[in-house]
Order: sequence, then C-alpha cells, then structure tokens
Amino acid sequence: MIEEDLDSIRSDFPIFEFNPKLIYMDSAATSQRPKNVIDKVTEVYSHYNSNVHRGIYSMAEKVTEEYENSRKEIAKFLGANADELIFTKNTTESLNLVAYMLLPKLKNGVITITELEHHSNILPWREVASLANAEIRTVAVDREGKIDYADFEKKVSGSSVLSFTHISNVAGTTLDAKKMVSAAKAEGAITVVDGAQAAPHLKLNLHDLGADFYALSGHKMLGPTGIGILYGNKRLLEDLEPPFRGGEMVTEVHAEGQEWNDVPLKFEPGTPNFAGAIGFGEATKYLEKIGMNDIESYEKKLGKALMEELTKIDGLEYIGPSEGRAALLSFKLKGYHPHDIAAFLDTRSIAIRSGFHCAQPLHERFGFFDGSARASLYFYNNLDEIESLAYSLKELVRL
Ligand code: ALA
Repeated sequence: MIEEDLDSIRSDFPIFEFNPKLIYMDSAATSQRPKNVIDKVTEVYSHYNSNVHRGIYSMAEKVTEEYENSRKEIAKFLGANADELIFTKNTTESLNLVAYMLLPKLKNGVITITELEHHSNILPWREVASLANAEIRTVAVDREGKIDYADFEKKVSGSSVLSFTHISNVAGTTLDAKKMVSAAKAEGAITVVDGAQAAPHLKLNLHDLGADFYALSGHKMLGPTGIGILYGNKRLLEDLEPPFRGGEMVTEVHAEGQEWNDVPLKFEPGTPNFAGAIGFGEATKYLEKIGMNDIESYEKKLGKALMEELTKIDGLEYIGPSEGRAALLSFKLKGYHPHDIAAFLDTRSIAIRSGFHCAQPLHERFGFFDGSARASLYFYNNLDEIESLAYSLKELVRL
C-alpha cells in the first residue's frame, strides 16, 4: 500500500533529500526520478557507453542488448510487443511522427481532434491538414470538460483519423478511450491517442485498448528526459513510409535505391537517445514494483482531496469535472494572475505550474484568458501536502 510505504518511496527520490521542504506539484510537466533510474543512466555512460545497433565489439553488443531489453520491458509494461514501439524524443515528437506517417493517407480527408487537446495534438495535424487539403474537426466538451458524445458521434462519422488525449493535462478529464477508439474504427478511421498524462497514472494494455497509435513521454513517468515512445499497430508500421531518413533505418543503400530496416528501426534514424531509453526501462520496472493499480487508486484519493480542499477557497474557479478527475487541478483566483499565485507558493516551497500549459484553446474555451495555476500530483505526494497548498492559498487570499 502506497500510503503506508510513502516515507520509504520518497526516500528513493534524491530530489526530496536535497530539497527537504519541497512540495512538488508539477508532475504533469515532468515527474521526479528515483535513484535506480539516475544510476542506470550513469551506468550506461560509465560502464558500456558505445553506439547501439552499429559496432560488433562486445561493449557495443552490451549496450544494444540493454537498449532492446529496455524496449521489451516497456512493451510488457504497456501491454504491447517490443517491435511495435518506436523510441522518440517525447510525446510531441511521437505525435509529429505519426502525423507525417499518415500524411499520404490524408488527401482531402478528415482529421478529428477534441477541444481538450495539448498544442502537440493540434499543431502537427494543422500542418498535415494544410499539406493534404484535409479538414480538421474538433469535438466539443461540456461545461465540466467532458466529451460531448453526441457531438463526437457526429464529428467522427467519415473521419480518416481520430486523435485525442487520454487524460487532459488541464481539465484532468479521463476520456473513455476504448469507446472512442471502437467508434472511430467502425468508421474506418485510424486512431491516435496522446497518452502523455495517462501512461504515468493508469494501468495500460495497449492491445486491449485497440488504438492504432499511442504516444507517451518517459520524463513524465520517472524516466529520463528526451525519451518517448510511439506505439504503432504492426501492420500499419510495416505499410507506412518513414518520414525521416538517415543512418541505421536502412539495411542497404546503393547509388540508386535503398531497403528500409525492419519495424521499428525503420522509424529510428540516427543515433537514438540510448541512455535515456535504457533509463526509461528502469522507470517502468520501478512503476511495476509500486504497482499501477495501487498508483491509480491512491491518486484517486489525492485527486478527490485536492478538489475538496481547494474548492473551499473563496473566489477559486477551476476547469474540469467535479468528480472522477485525475490528481490535478487547474484554477484561477479572482484578483490574482496565475503567475502571481505560483510565485507566492514558491515562497512557501510549493512548486506548481502557471500559464496555459500548452493548451491555450482549451483555456480560452473556458474563459481563462490569462491561463491558470495548476497543481498536478503523483504517487509521491500526500494529503499533508494538499493541506499545505490549501493553507497557503488561503493565506494569499487573506493578504
Ligand atoms: N505538457 C506538459 C504540461 O502539461 C509539459 O505541463
């Protein structure tokens, strides 16, 4: 049980040792990292640093084996096969990659997204839509930031692609991804899910979910920065052309013509972030050890407490559902700019994010034209920290 083991869990994270007063509530931006992940990255660079999939000397074979074992570890964690996972830089790169992969299929087509999207799930589609003369449709959300399913059914009809966030980084809404994926598939659409905020918090089984593509970032789930994943349906990955080209994604290159490497290497041109990829495998091992089901149920408790404590504050307005939300809250306080709230909380050693959180259209949809202040939690947070946050916000309002 996380609650009982929290002291020992927190002692795995050096950041709390070096910053004993820190109340870290910005995990939607980037999570903290446990020692096993930091040590693993150091081990790669100190013990067997050499390039992957290139040399035949023993150290190069060792690093390649670690890299591919890590892919297997992450695949097991996600309920997928290793050859369906492409290593990328982050979710943003994964979404750009899939958008460009699908470009040849989008001529005069329809791309459907939702009002909840992060800029990374809007801007790549805008670009390919303009190149392919495709239409972009945006599914509406209701007052609580939940999908309007009547509008979804209308918009998904005749779509070539449906791309949506699994959990909103601003509203904290968890979408019924399985239902949306199966409705889109019935329309013959290719489905893409932005899992940046879901993969760190939910027990996933990508085969069961059935989406064609799923994008996520390592750094939001205890892994190193600069490493992400694009999961892709194997048949599609084999069929689609690689948008980016260069070393190691080919098996043969002649004066004329070339042979693409097997999937997924076909989509990994150039030297990858192998230390990051190997560190990410350690992060998924750590998450497995804690248990994703436990993380999910503990965070439900945190999310509920965050909501209950903060909504007691006079003049506080928030975006998103009143119940069943992820453990994050984006809010504003009458008379205070979100940056002023974050700066004040910083004087109390509380770290939250303020601004648009890369989802400006969503803020504008709810009339949050200056953005919001956002507290986003992870399993290393506790109820006392939520109380301290609420106490400090009350202090600010009284000033
Ligand atoms: N997209 C990340 C966030 O929500 C960086 O903060």
